[in-house]
Amino acid sequence: MSLDLAPTVAAPTPASASTAAAPLSPNALRKIVRELAEQPDRWLHRVRLSAEERWYERLERTEDYEVWLISWLPGQSTGFHDHGGSRGAFAVTLGELEELSLGGPGQGLLIRRVTSGTARAFGPDFLHDVRNTATGLAVTIHAYSPPLDSMSRYELRAEGLVQTASEGPEQW
Ligand SMILES: [Fe+2]
Repeated sequence: MSLDLAPTVAAPTPASASTAAAPLSPNALRKIVRELAEQPDRWLHRVRLSAEERWYERLERTEDYEVWLISWLPGQSTGFHDHGGSRGAFAVTLGELEELSLGGPGQGLLIRRVTSGTARAFGPDFLHDVRNTATGLAVTIHAYSPPLDSMSRYELRAEGLVQTASEGPEQW
């Protein structure tokens, strides 16, 4: 005779882990913004301008990602910010923007022109400052995965980027 002493506590199953959606890759997000940029009938009529600050509106949100439309008057900029751990991409559909980011050790500040018809994509740890330094309007389409949950702002100081503020969805 033997007693069954098998534990009655169920072992954790991978099923609980697999219910969380995996974030889309930067390349997949770039494809989303590029395809949308090529279909202006889906967003052009929604573009507004704001002299106060960049104008923005969410075009789409799923469990896995969200898409935003943003307009930039000359001089409007984001300041340095992260994306709360989300991956992202943006396509310039009209005008052009300047993107500042810190390169690796010894590289200093990188400045890129992002012109109409081109797109950028980035991973979860990326920080940048995006600005319209041109003389005309710019319109961009952005995708983030997972959908943005928080963002932190940074100041560029002599010692590097220093976090100065953090915001959640209620602030945008
Ligand atoms: Fe950004």
